[in-house]
Amino acid sequence: MKTLRRTSPRPSHRPERTEVMHLADGRELWLRPVHPADAAPIAGAFELLGDDEIRKRYLHPVKALSLDYLMQLVNIVPGESFAVVAAEPLPPGEALVGALARLTRDPGKDSAEFAILVSHFVSGQGLGKALMRRLMEWAQAHGIRRLWGEVMDDNTAMIELALSLGFRRATSQESPNLLHVTLDLEPVRAARR
Ligand SMILES: CC(C)(COP(=O)(O)OP(=O)(O)OC[C@H]1O[C@@H](n2cnc3c(N)ncnc32)[C@H](O)[C@@H]1OP(=O)(O)O)[C@@H](O)C(=O)NCCC(=O)NCCS
Repeated sequence: MKTLRRTSPRPSHRPERTEVMHLADGRELWLRPVHPADAAPIAGAFELLGDDEIRKRYLHPVKALSLDYLMQLVNIVPGESFAVVAAEPLPPGEALVGALARLTRDPGKDSAEFAILVSHFVSGQGLGKALMRRLMEWAQAHGIRRLWGEVMDDNTAMIELALSLGFRRATSQESPNLLHVTLDLEPVRAARR
């Protein structure tokens, strides 16, 4: 049975908050914005991923994460990109990172591309949905009106996750093996403090 218990105060309108989650397997994880010190743990976690989950995330095989890419991943550009991790309840740098979701605003537009990877060690316990919701909150709070992503057409888990959050799917213009999923977001009033 899937039970994902949130023990932090009721959800606020601060997408950058840290949220404590207790997974059905007994793990406690913190959902928090990525930190530059997460670079090494993320590189380490990548080593433990299977080829299939890497292919589904990056849409092609990737052997290792380059330093440039890692730096881009952990150093978000205020207002333009956001990334949230699910990590051990330890300070960034010491905490193992089990999942990461990020979005990047399309230059000069009110749309953003999302990407997500929940490691098989912690998947199937509600983290994917929780992380996507954090991206959606951040996007709404930062004036983004449309979230989109490219998903392999055999990626049932991501397709179902996206549909469960209200995304629509269409054929991708990138490749016949990809689906283009989009979610239109309602504008929200200024974030409460
Ligand atoms: C897709 C992925 C993010 C899902 O993460 P997750 O933490 O396992 O997802 P959740 O546990 O939050 O599940 C949320 C919903 O997704 C769907 N889902 C998840 N896994 C599924 C599976 N194996 N089969 C069918 N639906 C599935 C379900 O609708 C589920 O809701 P439910 O449990 O109420 O039925 C994860 O499997 C992953 O990272 N895969 C590899 C990388 C990838 O595919 N990235 C997406 C491209 S950007």
